[in-house]
Amino acid sequence: MEQKNIQPALFSPSRPFGQTLSFSIQAGRKAEDLLDTISGCFDPDQDLIGLGEPLLRLFPRSVPGLSTFPSLSGTGFSIPATQEALWILVLGKDRTEVFDRTRVLTSVLEHVLALRDTMETFVYDGGKDLTGYIDGTENPPEEDRPAVALLDGDEGLAGSSFVAVQRWEHDLTHFRSRSSDEQDAIIGRHRTTNEEMPEAPPSAHIRRSARESFSPPATLFRRSMPWARGDRQGLEFIAFSRSLSAFDRILRRMAGLDDGIPDALFSFSRPVTGGYYWCPPMRNGRLDLSWLRPE
Ligand code: HEM
Repeated sequence: MEQKNIQPALFSPSRPFGQTLSFSIQAGRKAEDLLDTISGCFDPDQDLIGLGEPLLRLFPRSVPGLSTFPSLSGTGFSIPATQEALWILVLGKDRTEVFDRTRVLTSVLEHVLALRDTMETFVYDGGKDLTGYIDGTENPPEEDRPAVALLDGDEGLAGSSFVAVQRWEHDLTHFRSRSSDEQDAIIGRHRTTNEEMPEAPPSAHIRRSARESFSPPATLFRRSMPWARGDRQGLEFIAFSRSLSAFDRILRRMAGLDDGIPDALFSFSRPVTGGYYWCPPMRNGRLDLSWLRPE
């Protein structure tokens, strides 16, 4: 799928290694300098860039539909918001490529932005979550992804997307202490066959998140990647959509805020970051930021 006004990493085939970076704005920096620095360092071959509300609020024109990530509480767990000004996903065929690109990016951006968080990500066992379940089965088919993920409308907005980014930390020791039937009931699929469980309990993740559970349907294009650092690990959940309300509605239902039934995922995993970002479109091989600074 190649469309010239879309950041290519949005739809490109997955690459085995990644790194997420999020930044806040250094005090006193001018809005124009920030945009020039960000667009100047963007490499469409490796980077996917999203701008958060703290950055976009520096401009008189807002991006319709963008909000700040909400902080929520469920029964016995919290869902934190760690909204930053800029989020970048660097992708590569190996760690060398990701490392080298990240060094270049951070050395340019450090003049105007402060690096707040980084996480190395990777494709695990051909596209599974670290629990061993295939992640992405019910993603929309390729031909439907632009309609799910891309904004249309005026130049400067068309071809852009919203991304929800949420790091989950798994307690794999606890997960693996459960029987395989219990594990399947948490996800709602059989790990060995990837078949959906018709008898999955209402707390099963797929029962909480399936698009048909929402009216209007809530559809995301998910491109999550596992992460592991020292003895901690989990999933860097990354999902694109033309409207952040799709993610918001699914998350609230997962938290049990609709009907009091929390997602069984919370029995072994918990969210530790959360941010919403606007991924601008492209024009002539560069980020198109004309929506923020119309001529
Ligand atoms: C610990 C974090 C998470 C894990 C390990 C996880 C894993 C999975 C797995 C294994 C599936 C089944 C296969 C598939 O269709 O991809 C799935 C489905 C899905 N997940 Fe998650 N997920 C997580 C968090 C989330 C979050 C935060 C959301 C959105 C707010 C979400 C939305 C969905 C959706 C929409 C589906 C498809 C459901 C269907 O139509 O059957 N997931 N996830």
